Amino acid sequence: MPKLAYIKTFGCQMNEHDSSKMRLCLRGLGFGEAASMEDADLVILNTCTIREKASHKAISEMGRARVLKLARPGTVVGVAGCVAQEMGDQILERFCDIDFVFGPDQIWRLPEILDEVSAGLRPVHVDLIDDPSAYRFLDNVPPVTSHQSRVTAFVTAIKGCSCACSYCIVPSVRGREVSRAADDIVGECQRLADIGTKEVVLLGQNVCAYGRGAGTTLASLIARIAKETRIERIRFTSPHPRDVTDELVGEFRSNPKLMPHIHLPVQAGSNDTLRRMRRGYTRERYLQVVRALRDARPGMSITTDLIVGFCGESECEFELTMDLVREVAFDSAFAFMYSPRPGTEAAKNMPDDVPLRVKQRRLDRLLTLQREQGRSRNEAKVGSAGEALATGVDRMGRGLITGRLACNRIIHFAGQEGLIGTIVPVVITGANDNSLSGEIAG
Ligand code: SAH
Ligand code: SF4
Ligand code: F3S
Repeated sequence: MPKLAYIKTFGCQMNEHDSSKMRLCLRGLGFGEAASMEDADLVILNTCTIREKASHKAISEMGRARVLKLARPGTVVGVAGCVAQEMGDQILERFCDIDFVFGPDQIWRLPEILDEVSAGLRPVHVDLIDDPSAYRFLDNVPPVTSHQSRVTAFVTAIKGCSCACSYCIVPSVRGREVSRAADDIVGECQRLADIGTKEVVLLGQNVCAYGRGAGTTLASLIARIAKETRIERIRFTSPHPRDVTDELVGEFRSNPKLMPHIHLPVQAGSNDTLRRMRRGYTRERYLQVVRALRDARPGMSITTDLIVGFCGESECEFELTMDLVREVAFDSAFAFMYSPRPGTEAAKNMPDDVPLRVKQRRLDRLLTLQREQGRSRNEAKVGSAGEALATGVDRMGRGLITGRLACNRIIHFAGQEGLIGTIVPVVITGANDNSLSGEIAG
């Protein structure tokens, strides 16, 4: 009987992709995939610490290790990801049922870590690797395929983040930015295309910083992938608004393989708030980037992240965020209540002075506004034609195919499973809050 492993993933696409890398590594070591944590011989919690709630969730999952071990003695439980990086060996002190801890830059060590566990140790590997020649991206052989299906795949472009947003813990848990060699990325995209992948999503905490210091850029990487591989659709996430260059805007204008969607986190609409957040752009500059993108590519879909209740956010500053959301008319948005993160500039030097009930009220207002706007932008699509990359069968069991339109919206339509992995012409027939429904055209 092969041993079974289960990886539970929290947080962003980088963590999802890291979990895929771990899965591949475990497969190489002879592990099968367990259907649930309770059935697994090895459990890895790949954690997130972006907000207080995420870190509490991770801690409560760690507490479950005891229950797992009581029900199934011999189960090995490890903690990975950003909480592992943040807390390191404190995890072993607090949770005697956790067997090992490793950070996002140490995934390549997993085989060695498991050997150490077998030898009776409780290893902790949380060094950050900021030296480009020492960093191992682990994406090279064989291609790591995505969360959903082989049709769409994540590809790492750059790791870490060298920005200094005052609220954000990412730079301290993911280290400084390190770009991956363009030849390796292009090679991986081609190998993915060889096994049927149609779409790649280039990943990085600040993917627009790709190539900085190495004489290349995200735009030229995208151009190479479009020219040198059979990948049909290219996306990237997440860009920093400050780093959206004219060259990148030009790529949206001239490269039809670059899909007309950008997730462009704005965070706030007031220049005072943006300054305290150390975002490095103004509201005016953000709006200028939005106009340039929409001008370069008609139908460009723009989505965003927003924080409410950041340190010192007055009612008036918050109204400027509401106002910006109205002005841009985002296709969708994630909005979060600010929570202080250990070690960040805001946690150290700026009082978290917006009361929770005010944060909650602002969040509710923002979400209500965005829901209305998102819905009307979805409704405006009804009757239009588009092309959907069929990615799988609808998870609700309605016998429908799920696809992704160029604008990144999800669409469901009736069709044969054989369509999966192909680009299907569709007509949009209905709008829901988070997806569209459609029919195959003609
Ligand atoms: N690298 C991405 C975002 C990473 S975190 C980028 O810069 O665009 C995802 C989102 O979490 C951020 O865009 C921000 O809106 C939110 N976030 C980050 N730190 C937060 C904090 N301390 N409190 C609340 N939200 C936070
Ligand atoms: Fe965090 Fe800012 Fe880096 Fe995004 S760009 S990961 S918000 S520090
Ligand atoms: Fe969370 Fe780490 Fe991603 S903190 S959002 S998993 S980079």
